[in-house]
Amino acid sequence: MIPALRLEGVSFSYGTVPVLANVSFSIASGERVALLGRNGAGKSTLVRLIAGLQWPDQGIVWVGDWDTRDCVPEQLAWRVATVFQHADQQLFATSVRDDVSFGPRALGVGEREVQRRTESATIGVDRALRARVTRALLERSAASVALLVITHDLTFAAETLDRGLVLDRGTLACDEPLPSLLGDATRLEPLGLAPPPVAALSTALDLPGRPVREAEAARELARVARGRLAP
Ligand SMILES: Nc1ncnc2c1ncn2[C@@H]1O[C@H](COP(=O)(O)OP(=O)(O)O)[C@@H](O)[C@H]1O
Ligand SMILES: [Mg+2]
Repeated sequence: MIPALRLEGVSFSYGTVPVLANVSFSIASGERVALLGRNGAGKSTLVRLIAGLQWPDQGIVWVGDWDTRDCVPEQLAWRVATVFQHADQQLFATSVRDDVSFGPRALGVGEREVQRRTESATIGVDRALRARVTRALLERSAASVALLVITHDLTFAAETLDRGLVLDRGTLACDEPLPSLLGDATRLEPLGLAPPPVAALSTALDLPGRPVREAEAARELARVARGRLAP
């Protein structure tokens, strides 16, 4: 099956300022991937390339079987949904209702369906809790949507996502399962990242498997403690 997203040797500059250099990776449908790296590493630019708001200078960005250079952002919007970190960058209409209905209306969805989607999406936006975001992401992933999440919250990444891509000054410095990456403070530090507290605890206690998720760490900790208490 072709990947949901594939970057092939992608380089990009703003004018003469190089921002991404020879970045390659692919993400399968249903994969949950964290895009990490310090400020200025090129994360937002990478997302702009995937959304078709910029085109690579070299290399190819494939969204499924579409080369973004053959697409306008409106077309890519059928396959790429972008959610911004700050609600005020995302919202631009004068009411939440207008804002939420803009997307499906721009895609040419029928008015009755626009109303239906708007009603179901507006419900509960005042309770924008992290747990809801997590659940929404997991639901999309279970429905075979590929997730690429830019975050500085490595605890959230450890709990919700599986694989980590780290950008370092425009190059892809890591692409591996999150547990091995987040448990390795010596590699994280030069990339501008700090291990999440659970990973640091696992390492400090030398817990078997070095779990980075709370539930797994708690299980291991209980197992080790029981072993020590046993006669
Ligand atoms: N529109 C722009 N024009 C020129 N340089 C930019 C522009 N946007 C971002 N940059 C530069 O590109 C680099 C990467 O920025 P960005 O992709 O926003 O990184 P990140 O999202 O990881 O913080 C930074 O050095 C930033 O200053
Ligand atoms: Mg950014």
